[in-house]
Amino acid sequence: MDGMPDALSAERMLQWLASFGRQEDGGVTRLLYDESWLQAQLALRSCMERLGLQPYFDDAGNLYGRLDGLETGGPTVLTGSHIDSVRSGGRYDGAYGIVAGILALDRLNRLHGPPRYPLEVVSFCEEEGSRFPLAFWGSGNATGRYDAARPPEAADPGGITLREAMAACGFGSGTHRPCERGGLRAFVELHIEQGAVLEREGVPLGVVDGIVGQQRWTAVVRGEANHAGTTPMAYRRDALAAASEMILAVERHALAAGAPLVGTVGRVEAAPNAGNVVAGEARFTLDVRSPSAEQLQRCVAALQTELAAIAERRGVTLELQRWLDARPVQMHGGLSSMLQQLCAARGYASRRMYSGAGHDAQLFAPRCPAAMLFVPSRGGISHAPEEYTAPEFLDAGIDVLCDLLYQLAYEGVPLT
Ligand code: HGY
Ligand code: MN
Ligand code: MN
Repeated sequence: MDGMPDALSAERMLQWLASFGRQEDGGVTRLLYDESWLQAQLALRSCMERLGLQPYFDDAGNLYGRLDGLETGGPTVLTGSHIDSVRSGGRYDGAYGIVAGILALDRLNRLHGPPRYPLEVVSFCEEEGSRFPLAFWGSGNATGRYDAARPPEAADPGGITLREAMAACGFGSGTHRPCERGGLRAFVELHIEQGAVLEREGVPLGVVDGIVGQQRWTAVVRGEANHAGTTPMAYRRDALAAASEMILAVERHALAAGAPLVGTVGRVEAAPNAGNVVAGEARFTLDVRSPSAEQLQRCVAALQTELAAIAERRGVTLELQRWLDARPVQMHGGLSSMLQQLCAARGYASRRMYSGAGHDAQLFAPRCPAAMLFVPSRGGISHAPEEYTAPEFLDAGIDVLCDLLYQLAYEGVPLT
């Protein structure tokens, strides 16, 4: 299973990496600290070793591959993305940025030898928030947002805590490198667009201007479980009916706020989840995003008020817990201009664009120059087994990444 392909192509490496966590439906499920996650990280470590990229783990389970710089004390140039996935997701989200970084460092090392400044690729342990009610655990530890030595009290749906899962993989006890990364010259992330703009416009590469802010909440509605046949409608405190009215309110508020704000309820659970029982409890997720921090906060505040009013009127209780609040960020202008020039120099058309998906780069943007380059997603599909990007686009992105990393780590061009 961990036989890395000999021919080092992005497409074949992504096929190989997708074997860790492949599902019956062809999708990939690789959740933080689960078995397929661990096997994938260990296989990537062997791959890095084989290519002469000195691999090492930090204490959260982020995996780095490093090319020492001739100026060893120089600021590190970092590229990479996240190894975890959503449940039954695609094989490109996150994984492409890691594979692109490995292939780029390997190519640069073979062509030019050691760089002037240290050059590293990272496989961040978690970004999606698919297993525990928190996201960006990998880049969050690298940027000081989280501390693997003091993990938040969070448990997965099976009741396993983050601390237990981390310890079971040998992380979180200080036996690996410290997590927080200072002294970075730049962070560059290649990623699939996860939308349809590039494909619709026939443009192979997207230079990202900024990344949306997002808030993610969990709502728990509690009423009274009762017999579906003997409980008159007037006597009910139906948690699922109340949650349903709240979910429609989310859609109404998002539409009222207007594009580009989006509001999503992607997961609903009812208890006892039986056809002949009035639901006593209902849980749902809330995901609201906007490039404007003000618009995002205004919409969330209005929703908190309305959901509370619905609970009051229906005689149920409502608990709202926010577990992610990521601010919108702008990418570094100088790096983005360099990316656009390098695309043109290679003869690749490109366009500037905004990211409606969250990315690890948004945690680095406040700390060091950060930039992102998108490649097209077929049909704009992502977070699904049908996620696909043609090899020529994967390779075009890697060409431009190589050129940018060469300028940053070998030539040491000044960043304006
Ligand atoms: O959900 C997102 O924004 C990303 O795919 N983590
Ligand atoms: Mn994703
Ligand atoms: Mn992603």
